Order: sequence, then C-alpha cells, then structure tokens
Amino acid sequence: MRTQVGIIGSGPAGLLLAQLLHQHGIETVILERQSREHVEARIRAGVLEQGTVRLLREAGVGERMDREGIIHQGLSLAFSGRRERIDLHHFSGGSTVMIYGQTEVTRDLIEARLKAGGLLEYEAPAIAVENFLEGQPRIIYQKNGQRYELLCDFVAGCDGYHGVSRQSVPPDKLRLFEKIYPFGWLGILSDTPPVNEELIYANHARGFALCSMRSHTRSRYYVQCSLDDKVENWSDDAFWAELRRRLPEETAANLITGPRLEMSIAPLRSFVAEPMRFGQLFLAGDAAHIMPPTGAKGLNLAASDVFYLSRALIAYYGEKRTDLLDRYSEACLRRVWKAIRFSWWFTTTMHKFDDDPINHRLQLAELDYLTGSTAARMSFAENYVGLPFEKFE
Ligand code: APR
Ligand code: PHB
Repeated sequence: MRTQVGIIGSGPAGLLLAQLLHQHGIETVILERQSREHVEARIRAGVLEQGTVRLLREAGVGERMDREGIIHQGLSLAFSGRRERIDLHHFSGGSTVMIYGQTEVTRDLIEARLKAGGLLEYEAPAIAVENFLEGQPRIIYQKNGQRYELLCDFVAGCDGYHGVSRQSVPPDKLRLFEKIYPFGWLGILSDTPPVNEELIYANHARGFALCSMRSHTRSRYYVQCSLDDKVENWSDDAFWAELRRRLPEETAANLITGPRLEMSIAPLRSFVAEPMRFGQLFLAGDAAHIMPPTGAKGLNLAASDVFYLSRALIAYYGEKRTDLLDRYSEACLRRVWKAIRFSWWFTTTMHKFDDDPINHRLQLAELDYLTGSTAARMSFAENYVGLPFEKFE
C-alpha cells in the first residue's frame, strides 16, 4: 500500500494531524496498535489550552466541545489551610482554558476521520519504520497475523512514549533527557458533582491533591501516592478520607463522594527526545516528550506539535517548500521545553518530596508569594493557559 503521510498512532496527535492534512487534500493512513474500544476507553486529562481549542475548531471537530465543554477563567491553589483563587483570565490578559476530556476529543476525531472516509486501521501495530533517512520511508505493520508494508513520502510518529517510531531512530542520532519523580498520582473517576466549579491544586503536609472534573456531574480527583502503592490498597472510602485530609476544611466539608467508575495510578516523569525530525520521520506528541500531568500539558503539546507539522506538510505539498519541515523540530522543542519547565516547577512546588520541614516551608513561601504577587500570577497564568504558538508560515 502507498500513501503520502503514514501516521503511526490514533491518539490525539495522530488523529488531529490526519484531520488537518485531510482538509488540504493530503492523503494519510493511520495505523493503530489497539482496538477502537481500547483507545476510546482511555481516561486522560481534560484541560485544553486556548491554542488547542482553536486548532480543534479549525479541524472541524469543535462542535461538541463548544457545546459540552466548560470554560474556566480561573483555578485555586490550596495550602496552609487556605484556598486562593488565581484569576487566569485577568492575569493572562484574557485567556481561559476549556474543560473537555481527552477521551471526548479522541472520540470526536475518530468520528471525523471515519466520516471523511480516511483509512484508520485498528489492531494494526507498526513493527518497524525503515528507510526514512534515505528518503523512501516504509512502515512495516501487522494486521490479522499478516505482515504489510506501507510506502509513504513522510512518516508521522504519533505512537506515544512506548511506540516504535522513536525506537527506530539510530541511537547515535537521539539525545534523551529524563527526570523520574519519586511518587505517583492515584486518580479516581466518579459520577459525583465536582467539589468546586473550578480546579483546586492542593499542597498539604501529607502530599499533593487535585480536584478536577469531566462535566458538572462527573469528577476526577487525584492524591499523591508512593511509587510502590497499588490500586488494590485503596477502598473508595480510604481514597475519599485521604482526599478530605489534604483539602482545606471548608472544601472538604463540601466534598460529595460516590463509588469509583475507575481508579488508577500514574507515575510522573519528564522526558524529551531531541531532535524531533529524522529525514522523513517526524515525531509528535508523547512519542517525543512526556511531562508530569501537574500542568495539564501533555495533550496540549501534542496539539502544538501537530500545529507545526501540519503547516510544514501543507507547505510542502502545496508549494514544494521544505523550509518549514526543516524548522519543525526547533519550533516544537522551544515550546516543549518551556512547558516541561512549567510542569517541573509546578510539580516541585506542590508535591511532598521528603520529611525535611524546611522544604515544605519553602514551598509554602513560594505559594504565599505567588498568590500575593501580580507579576508572579501573570507568569503562572500565561504558562497555565498555554504560551502562544510561534509564527510558522
Ligand atoms: N503501532 C501502532 N500504534 C501504536 C504503536 C505501534 N507500534 N505504539 C503505540 N501506538 C498507539 C497507542 O496505542 C496510542 O493509541 O499510538 C497511540 C499514541 O497515543 P497517545 O499515547 O495518546 O499519544 P499522543 O497522541 O501523543 O497524545 C498525547 O495522550 O497519553 C496522553 O498524556 C498523554 O495527554 C497526552 C496525550
Ligand atoms: C484531569 O482532569 O485529569 C487533570 C486536570 C488538571 C491536571 C491534571 C489532570 O493538571
């Protein structure tokens, strides 16, 4: 089989790229290792930066998001028994974020792909990416036990951290950066009304907690846990009790609890692979970078990578330009590293790393300064709502 752009992975990066290229008549094939049911069942974060919202609307998949999504103009930081709201809209100069689950984004993009008649092969794992440095790339994949070859002009490696794309790059051409955090996030999903209309990030002596949501009737909560903790160690009641301990009294008193729909533990790491382009192979999204979910940047960086890659490929096929392809990696990584920095700063400010009392005092001083300083709140707000995409045309 042959196509113009072979895309490995039907997560947000792969699906959004396919949709934007389709709008410009560029043919793609998406190869996905898992089943559609598996992909659509993933529970992921739900905070969309404004750049991501604009890109989804441009891709023609913003209708349900605009109908069901919830616009947030602020969030709260809880510490020292206090709850301090940060007016993101005011301190960012008018930006907001949209609460709309990644699960829903993925479903909307899959629907659009199938409606457009685009090829989306499920249970079709790519097992190798070859010949992308010499100029005639091919993806070797499996389907129903048979091996197939997809010839393409370009390969978009949108196959996440564990994908085959990055692993197909000769190791001497890759620079890898990684930071493992000494804790995880224990998350619960419940059909209960959120404890607060906006998100609450809590720093407590017992550890971090986060109050988030998927809708006005479905909540998502997290508590920091140890790396060797297990979901089976936690009853629903135990989770709710621990969450209450880490929230200010008034907030804890308003918490409405219920049975879990899902409970899981996620590790926290920062990871970057440089560069993000190797000949005709381009990495995008989690295939190239991972960061702690504290800053809710994962999906949004996948979107900004796709913003740059789609523009570069559209310029190539439309005007035979290669300059944007050449600038892709540098443009992505400038935004990636700033998001990694913010996620690292927010993670180190909000989580318990050890029992040394001075470290907690330093965190509380940081939060006391942040919530009282106009300059600090402007810096926090512009990072949280998402730094602008650079001019790329
Ligand atoms: N062949 C085909 N598909 C593969 C392969 C392979 N060898 N390896 C992985 N995949 C698929 C995965 O099954 C997954 O559906 O690639 C897809 C990658 O999607 P994501 O991991 O969601 O990555 P991305 O699209 O970059 O989106 C990043 O998703 O995981 C979250 O927190 C992350 O919010 C961030 C966002
Ligand atoms: C979520 O709703 O899952 C969520 C929200 C904000 C974060 C991380 C996760 O920073």
